[in-house]
Amino acid sequence: MFAAVTLMAAPQTFRPGDVWLDNRDRHIQAHGGGIIKLGDTWYWFGEDRGRDNDPERRYVACYSSKDLAHWTFRNQVVRWSDPENLGPHWVLERPKVFYNAKAKKYVMYLHLDDAKYKVARVAVGVSDKVDGDFTFVKSFRPLGQESRDIGQFIDDDGAAYLIFEDRPAKGFHIAKLSDDYLTVEREMSLIKAPLEGGAVVHYQGLYYAVGSALTGWDPNPNKYATAKSLEGPWSEFRDIAPPETRTYGSQSTMLLKVVGSQATTVIFLGDIWRPKTQWDSRYLWMPVEIGDGKLALPAPREWTLDVKTGRSAIVR
Ligand code: GAL
Repeated sequence: MFAAVTLMAAPQTFRPGDVWLDNRDRHIQAHGGGIIKLGDTWYWFGEDRGRDNDPERRYVACYSSKDLAHWTFRNQVVRWSDPENLGPHWVLERPKVFYNAKAKKYVMYLHLDDAKYKVARVAVGVSDKVDGDFTFVKSFRPLGQESRDIGQFIDDDGAAYLIFEDRPAKGFHIAKLSDDYLTVEREMSLIKAPLEGGAVVHYQGLYYAVGSALTGWDPNPNKYATAKSLEGPWSEFRDIAPPETRTYGSQSTMLLKVVGSQATTVIFLGDIWRPKTQWDSRYLWMPVEIGDGKLALPAPREWTLDVKTGRSAIVR
């Protein structure tokens, strides 16, 4: 009886900026990450910058959850050792996983680079299981363009898009993946704003795109624009939070839409980077105020989410 009461009352609270523990009581290593939902389960993939990792390798971790608040560690789904011979301090960042239902394969995109960020490619890995070991397939420049920060967007019709920042073009692309997801096929938009950490959500008939300025690990005022179609035209960019807060010290990685029986909550998923102690980087997730072409990130504080109803509430 007591156990049942405790379970029902278990608070699914989010505390932005705190250390978030997984089921093993270890700080979640899923930085620059992305989340997909399969059935009633969310899977969170991100950079695993754990202190105990082999410094020659790069890692992606996968966690699962049914309420977005309690996360079970599943696997280090990537433990790659410099697959393209990019040399010491090679870079693997911002992994995003798509499920290809036709091929029944999980396809991971990530940013692959050398120590100087001159290579500017995406790498693709595949796995038969969501939390299986992803095998390196290839790396390339999407649509032949330089690509650094990447983001993922899956529309309500299931179509899968890659968002990628392109320095020479001074903007970012939203591009559709091929049928098998193994390549980037069709440009929807090249949004001429020098933004990275790109994220898109489709909410009440409008597309909202969010991105951060190009200031490396330092936070900056993230911005958003809207469009009726992924092909644009896109509105001007506006701040998502008071600019002096520099997005409350965070950087965008995804906008996650949670559709419940009563409401829809859109969550801003951001990283609070700690470049000198990367394993200790934190997460800032907050439900955004969104609608009628406006999007605002409220000041971070404790909040709760009921994934069944889709309702979120500020605790304090
Ligand atoms: C940021 C980017 C991160 C990482 C970092 C390196 O701008 O969002 O993913 O690439 O630069 O300085």
